[in-house]
Amino acid sequence: VTAEKGGFEYFMLKEIHEQPKAYRDTMLGRIDEQGEKVILPELKLTPDQIMNIRNIQIIGCGTAYHAGLVGRNVIETLVRIPVETDVASEYRYRSPIVSPDTLVIVVSQSGETADTLAALREAKANGAHVLAITNVVGSSIARDADDVIATLAGPEIAVASTKAYTSQLIAFYLLGLYLAEVRGTQTPEAVKEMIQAMQALPEQLDMMLEQSESIKAYAEQISHHEHLFFIGRGLDFAVAQEGSLKLKEISYIHSEAYPAGELKHGTLALIEDGTPVIALVTQESVLEKTVSNIKEVSARGADIMVITYEEHAATLLKSVDQVFVIPKTLPLLSPALAVVSLQLLSYYASLALGNDVDKPRNLAKSVTVE
Ligand code: AGP
Repeated sequence: VTAEKGGFEYFMLKEIHEQPKAYRDTMLGRIDEQGEKVILPELKLTPDQIMNIRNIQIIGCGTAYHAGLVGRNVIETLVRIPVETDVASEYRYRSPIVSPDTLVIVVSQSGETADTLAALREAKANGAHVLAITNVVGSSIARDADDVIATLAGPEIAVASTKAYTSQLIAFYLLGLYLAEVRGTQTPEAVKEMIQAMQALPEQLDMMLEQSESIKAYAEQISHHEHLFFIGRGLDFAVAQEGSLKLKEISYIHSEAYPAGELKHGTLALIEDGTPVIALVTQESVLEKTVSNIKEVSARGADIMVITYEEHAATLLKSVDQVFVIPKTLPLLSPALAVVSLQLLSYYASLALGNDVDKPRNLAKSVTVE
């Protein structure tokens, strides 16, 4: 069994370390040789259809839904098409507005999640073109969808999804760039810059994984707490939600993810002396605002850990207790690096508590009931 785990104690840790390869594999053959364009030869969606897309709906459950939150921001930023995101089990029951000019993107690692499959069928019945982002090409969701973008993460065994999520982010970056090229919404220079930054991600991630010891020490510290908070704005909030789910799922520590600016509208009442708060600060456009939100929790005695870039570390250290630095990348790409520190955090917290990391209580890898 240890051999199956490649020398790692748990599949989850092995899968966290497989992410640089999963990034490379998911990009392979989907970027032209000059590194200037995304090519998605598998897509049946024609340029004409792409020109006619009026709205996009992204649907998934749990971690796949969280990838969709990032996908929404990526597509709206790059392509300027309105995007909605839905939890699959809610989608069908809110009378979603779908037309033949709606592109529905369903996201599922396993391709067998019952709620996501039901949402896919509902969207198709209403005339939408359905594109699946999945890790299992022979799955029910892949079979029923009109189009498939396969994530090439390889089999994911641990119940807690890691490499599937980050590969879904890569799929969204590729798709966003492809749609932008067809619709002419980005300059060739901007596309090239983003492709180059994407190609640097695997190596940057390798660097991060080499420094996982500092996250381990912090994880052991928080494992004694009952509640904690993740805060961030924009894409940092999307990553915060995934970090919070991961921690709950395998460490059983209660946590909440909050948009940093929303705390003062109620939740701030829960912050007391020593409450751990993990703040993500990678989105430069809202950096100052997030920093003032950090000061709000600091004034209430919170114990704050920040995930940010080197260039902001010294300033932030004046108002927080600890800083974890991630390699510099473009704002849209930071989730693909920042989330890995949160995966490691939940892994080491779960380990410190003596839980079965790969098989958390009450949960199944693939949820085939609605
Ligand atoms: C992730 O850590 C969870 N185990 C869970 O939220 C999962 O992402 C969700 O059930 C969706 O699964 P799928 O991607 O296979 O559809």
